[in-house]
Amino acid sequence: MSLERPAMGNSAARAPAEVRELKSNGTARKPVTIRTLRQMADRGEPFSCLACYDAITARWLERAGVHVLLAGDSAAEIVLGLPRTIHMPMELSIWLTAALKRGAPNTVVMADMPFLSYHASEDEALKNAGRFMTEGLADTVKLEADASFAPLVARFTRAGIPVCAHVGSLPQRSAMRGGYGSAGRTAEEARKIIDDAIALEQAGAVMTLVEAVPDQVAQAIIERTEIPLIGIGAGPACHAQILVVHDLLGLTDHAPRFATPLASMGESIQGAATDWVASVSARKRGGRPYEMSESEAQAFAASLAQ
Ligand code: KIV
Repeated sequence: MSLERPAMGNSAARAPAEVRELKSNGTARKPVTIRTLRQMADRGEPFSCLACYDAITARWLERAGVHVLLAGDSAAEIVLGLPRTIHMPMELSIWLTAALKRGAPNTVVMADMPFLSYHASEDEALKNAGRFMTEGLADTVKLEADASFAPLVARFTRAGIPVCAHVGSLPQRSAMRGGYGSAGRTAEEARKIIDDAIALEQAGAVMTLVEAVPDQVAQAIIERTEIPLIGIGAGPACHAQILVVHDLLGLTDHAPRFATPLASMGESIQGAATDWVASVSARKRGGRPYEMSESEAQAFAASLAQ
């Protein structure tokens, strides 16, 4: 097996300038910041976001030119195998957020505030958000919110904590509807989502994320707000798109309908592990052996003979 690093492919030709810089000289790109994202959105240049959960994957995603990494509460399902995002533990969320920033220091890292970490009281919410910024090294925190969260967003903003307001389908509230699903498919619900986005922007949110809504709902938000809109299952007009990296890489058995896998890594993992099982069964040696010098080998043989 070759120890050479794999080639980068030919995607540099269509990559944005900061990504070309990373690929051509192998050094870190210019840091992407919340200001960069705003400028890209204002220029009509889409930016890309992925939810991911570990430092090594984060490093590869930064090398690929991804602009935002979300330490999503979807880790409850993807990493921990739990049934719903509401099971995500606060302490682990902080650790995973910091892991992403260590792996991808030049990428905007967004912490996903877990279920009930921002609901019990504003004081507790502020302390938890602060922990994501300090211990979690986050650049911004994401809250699943509607207009009633505007005072909380204003309080975070006054404290210097940039908020991404997640509207539309809100997985942390899925128990109210009997499961995950879409949102904004009636005129009344669509109008409410738009009003939520406007109220949260007015409260100081620096970005909005809208999940699982018809394209025209996202379009209406874009027309009525100024901050970047990240979409997931919300159509191509959004300033940015986000997916769970496991869905993108073809690792999940049942990806959501809006996710098109661009790799088949599940099958690659299965293939490599099958080869590993066969190689262990056949007593094949992998890698390089640990060796003794000739003199140590002779001394060892002599000691065994005594
Ligand atoms: O936790 C998550 O994966 C999310 C999605 C919006 C990407 O919040």
